[in-house]
Amino acid sequence: MSITVRAAAKINLHLGVGRVREDGFHPLDTVYQAIGIHDDLTLTDAADLTLRTQVADHIDPAAVPEGSDNIVLRAARLLADHAGVGAAGAFEVRKDIPVAGGMAGGSADAAAALVAYDRLRDLRTPDEDLLALAARLGSDIPFSLVGGTARGVGRGEVVTPVEDLGSWWWVAVPSAEGLSTPVVYRHFDELRPDAPEVPASAEPLLAALASGEPVRLARALHNDLQEPAIDLRPELGDLIARGEAEGALRGMVSGSGPTVVFLCESADGAHETALGLAGAGHEVVLTATGPVAGAHVLA
Ligand code: C5P
Repeated sequence: MSITVRAAAKINLHLGVGRVREDGFHPLDTVYQAIGIHDDLTLTDAADLTLRTQVADHIDPAAVPEGSDNIVLRAARLLADHAGVGAAGAFEVRKDIPVAGGMAGGSADAAAALVAYDRLRDLRTPDEDLLALAARLGSDIPFSLVGGTARGVGRGEVVTPVEDLGSWWWVAVPSAEGLSTPVVYRHFDELRPDAPEVPASAEPLLAALASGEPVRLARALHNDLQEPAIDLRPELGDLIARGEAEGALRGMVSGSGPTVVFLCESADGAHETALGLAGAGHEVVLTATGPVAGAHVLA
């Protein structure tokens, strides 16, 4: 028997970051959106616990973390322990989400692994338990389960769906080389030693979302990790300017980067921006709409 689960990439429409906590994490007020770039994970019955990864053409296979440390296998072992069953099964992941790109690719795979393991083994784990296990694996993994558009607080793991009347068009430009999330957060600490304890509120962004107006949403986009990400990778600033010159309403670093996402007015606008960026020499330019569903079984 086998089962396939699809999980989406995320972007942060608002990412307010507060002063680092004693446990090393940062308090967040964030709004996540799941967009139509996804990984598919297939789990097949097997005696051992194994993982194979296939990547889309735009992803460097060497960038994918391997071995027993991989978040997919950690997710399977965590859920198996929770359920009191042995951890076994053959996982196969087909990756389209940029790796170490600030789009929660690893988190999507972990969320897909939890759902696949639960369904294939018929564990019937309550949603709240799955969300709690997801939070133990990583701050944005609960969102990868929930999908859609949602506000995240705490360290990002406490997730509540929010009203989103739009169907938004995005162009995403990954970088050839990823950025480490902890490194970007540490650089935030260096640049913003005076960061407030309470992160910048997501309320203005929520109002823009509820309007369904791309121009309003563009104005409200906010990411406190953009400055440290651009300081580490100055070319990201040029990329944002270029995409905006090619017609995007607004460009922004996605999460901790280095992927840059552009909000566009319409499908045509996204197509034009993508063509312009490809013409400017960017080899990988992806187009997606959001919001889309969280981790779910494919029929
Ligand atoms: O929770 P997750 O494992 O995804 O976090 C990866 C790293 O990102 C953490 O070890 C921490 O350095 C940083 N982080 C943070 N504050 C958050 C979330 C993540 O500092 N709210």
